[in-house]
Amino acid sequence: MKGVVLAGGLGSRLNPLTKVTNKHLLPVYDKPMIFYPIQTLVQAGVKEVLLVTGGHSAGEFLRLLGNGKKLGLDALHYAYQEGEGGIAHALALAKHFVDNEQCMVILGDNIIEANIAPFAKKFRKQKEGSRILLKKVSDPERFGVAEIKNGKVSKIVEKPKKPKSNYAVTGIYMYDKNVFDLCSKLKPSGRGELEITDVNNAYIKQGLMEYDVLNGYWTDAGTFESLYRASTLVRRKGIKE
Ligand code: DAU
Repeated sequence: MKGVVLAGGLGSRLNPLTKVTNKHLLPVYDKPMIFYPIQTLVQAGVKEVLLVTGGHSAGEFLRLLGNGKKLGLDALHYAYQEGEGGIAHALALAKHFVDNEQCMVILGDNIIEANIAPFAKKFRKQKEGSRILLKKVSDPERFGVAEIKNGKVSKIVEKPKKPKSNYAVTGIYMYDKNVFDLCSKLKPSGRGELEITDVNNAYIKQGLMEYDVLNGYWTDAGTFESLYRASTLVRRKGIKE
């Protein structure tokens, strides 16, 4: 299974920290943010990764990560996203890299505690469709929120004002090769982005979406509060070990 790390976008919610560097190069406790999602993929048995980045400082990723060998990868490839067209816009750039394989996609600002190898194993057996990881949170309105009926995800709503559940859709997505066809059919949302939630809802409509619930902590790191929380969680985990 191929891996895709999405680290584009302008990180404007972290201004002025992101005025002269990319959000994913900022520190989360003792490492640059981008190390964590790559580590998550490596733990899941993914050996070949495409990193999609954009904006300024794109060259710094190459200086930091090189060919990815030191992080446990066999190969690390790079793609450049022009502008900030959304998560699905960034993912579409991975079409030729992923080719006809399955892929595991992770957002560059998602930091988790668990080893997701067991979920990756289930997906490898799943063969078609998609698999997402959910996490129960106290502030679901900040995320894509999954509605669950009869043990299946029946719908995902992006940042609902009145969430119908506490299950946030984390930024870890597993897809079959059809994801790129779905991405190519998307229309920009109200915020002008190609939404990953629309991709996931298309799989749900086809009855091809499975899910697992993530154990351990999960946080994004795209706001001052969540960036601070991410550092605290990583530090605490280090102390426990
Ligand atoms: O963190 C999980 C959440 O991520 C999900 O629950 C939401 O459904 C999903 O839409 C997303 O929400 P955010 O609004 O928090 O995403 P954000 O715009 O902060 O982007 C998250 C990462 O995606 C970012 O660190 C880099 C990547 N990205 C984002 C955009 C908009 C790109 O690579 N390119 C982009 O154009």
